[in-house]
Amino acid sequence: MSRRILVTSALPNANGPIHLGHVLEQIQTDIWVRFQRMRGNQAIYVCADDTHGTATMIKAEQEGVSAETLVENMRQLHMADSQGFLISHDNYCSTHSPENQQYSELIYNRLQEAGLIFIEEVEQLYDPEKSLFLADRFVVGGCPKCKTPDQYGDNCENCGATYNANELIDPKSIFSGATPEMRGSDHYFFDLGRYTDFLKAWTRSDAVQPEIANKLAEWLDDGLRAWDISRDAPYFGFTIPGTTDKYFYVWMDAPIGYMASFQNLCDQDSDLNFDDFWATDSSAEVHHFIGKDIVNFHALFWPAVLDGSNFRTPTKLHTHGFLTVDGTKMSKSRGTFILAKTYLDHLSPEYLRYYYAAKLSGSADDLDLNLEDFVARVNSDLVGKVINIASRTAGFLVNQFNGVLADNVHDEALMAQFHAQVEPIAALFESGDTAKAMREVTALADAANQYIAKHEPWNMAKDPEYRDAVQLVCSQGINMFRCLAIFLKPVLPEMAEKAEAFLSVAPLTWADAEAPLLGHTIRKFKPMLQRIETAQIEKMVDASKQPESASAPTKAKPAATDEAAGVISIDDFMKVQLKVARIVEAAPVEGADKLLQLTLDVGDHRRQVFSGIKAAYQAEDLVGRLTVVVANLAPRKMRFGVSEGMVLAAGPGGSDIFLLSPDSGAEPGMHVK
Ligand code: 2FM
Ligand code: ZN
Repeated sequence: MSRRILVTSALPNANGPIHLGHVLEQIQTDIWVRFQRMRGNQAIYVCADDTHGTATMIKAEQEGVSAETLVENMRQLHMADSQGFLISHDNYCSTHSPENQQYSELIYNRLQEAGLIFIEEVEQLYDPEKSLFLADRFVVGGCPKCKTPDQYGDNCENCGATYNANELIDPKSIFSGATPEMRGSDHYFFDLGRYTDFLKAWTRSDAVQPEIANKLAEWLDDGLRAWDISRDAPYFGFTIPGTTDKYFYVWMDAPIGYMASFQNLCDQDSDLNFDDFWATDSSAEVHHFIGKDIVNFHALFWPAVLDGSNFRTPTKLHTHGFLTVDGTKMSKSRGTFILAKTYLDHLSPEYLRYYYAAKLSGSADDLDLNLEDFVARVNSDLVGKVINIASRTAGFLVNQFNGVLADNVHDEALMAQFHAQVEPIAALFESGDTAKAMREVTALADAANQYIAKHEPWNMAKDPEYRDAVQLVCSQGINMFRCLAIFLKPVLPEMAEKAEAFLSVAPLTWADAEAPLLGHTIRKFKPMLQRIETAQIEKMVDASKQPESASAPTKAKPAATDEAAGVISIDDFMKVQLKVARIVEAAPVEGADKLLQLTLDVGDHRRQVFSGIKAAYQAEDLVGRLTVVVANLAPRKMRFGVSEGMVLAAGPGGSDIFLLSPDSGAEPGMHVK
């Protein structure tokens, strides 16, 4: 009986492009999925973008687009990157979807009916300028212990101290620079404490790797506290049923996104049924691939929420460690913070798929991408060993035997070594120890190359007496290559496809490795993978280099500090989005001497901006004129209303300032370079 398996990898955040760390997880998942499919199992791989939260809302505001537009654009980019790495998602949705709203509400309502939800007042820092409650990471200030300035509200990067955001010295909101104040509001809690015993048992089942279960025991032994699942408006997300100003916390609806993406797929494929996979009596499997940083959400909250809302719990969490590059954290200044897209601009996805496979052992240990080792392994193992077997033997068969393979096996014992590895290597893929699987493959490739070197078909081919032997030896070479292509197919799907064309066979399945091809006609050999040149790596690293400060994870400092610096770098300047706008309305502002209230057409929408150009222009003269506007300036609340951008003008000031002339050929919405 074949297995029915639903597989997921963690949903990437919609607030930025994916990098080689995300790619590690997607490749790990995809190898497992492709292996399952080759075994004849039904493996469905769904993913989505994780879209909700304050960060998305603020980023959209800064970019002057709606949050919906922002997350949809990012989803398209993420999908293109995943496809570039040959990730075989069956569906890639968004957590901002009707399906996710439906399941989030259903789950919440069931938890509430089961008495697992309660309300309690929570005191939290509040940004009075932005009218926004601030999560710890949105507050910066001095570390209360070592006094290092500019630390986030939960822990100090310098001394490692953990504290509450309200303990920071001189705390500031990263959004406005305002000093936050404490405010109370009602929050909705999921009573996770009631699940402590359930989770103690669940985390010690086969569902969780033992080393992860040990880590989780540190929390579980203390007993779990209730989990705050709500956030106050304004927030980008779904409102909690029965409220208008309380939203599901992003981590509440994110894993539900797995279900929602699957539901969306079921709606497109009538052979798939949601309940077959998610009902409590389901005989299907659910596997989540995640990084160890988010294990608490998946091993504690998620199973409890599922159980509390009458859904099945996951079959297994496959937790991996962090990615380092050349032995340290990925670094923008060293050029080792490599985006998926940058890698793909320079190198084939299969190189990285192979390297990651050769390093992943199924444990949660961190994994290092050593760029020198990467080049060496790909060139020596794949090109030098595996592909070499076919390239050394195919020519004789095609030229001298019309591509026809011998009718019997030459070295039965050697061939048996390959066949004997069919199940052991499958077991390694199943357990996620692809590192060992790749070592077994390389060992077999070494044996195959030794066999060819020993028989020297290139010498035998010179002597007609050895004609049959040439066919036998080369046919065995091709059969050994074919087995390796099968074992590598989950890792190298494109290489396997080229091998299938060369061997002139249907798509290879795992079981095909159990018996050799005899008396079968193959095609001319064509190179299936090129060597990596070191120059390609250098170019990729160069393309990834950025000054660390300009692009560090947005730890925005309070505005006052930036202004004090006085100068900005070219990278800072590049962040400024300038667009042509047409002034469609202009009016004086009552009570303001210098200001005009402008309505700007910026191509796809209109905005209101207050501009201090009253001394230079009569309001009525401005209508119809063009100007340049800073389009991604965060909206600013002024005494007279909200200003959504800034109009640029040149000149000494006062009455001598100039906007673009109306006949400049510019169109509203044009980007200014
Ligand atoms: O850590 C992250 O990047 C999250 N966006 C992962 C979410 S996984 C799932 F729960 F949705
Ligand atoms: Zn400190």
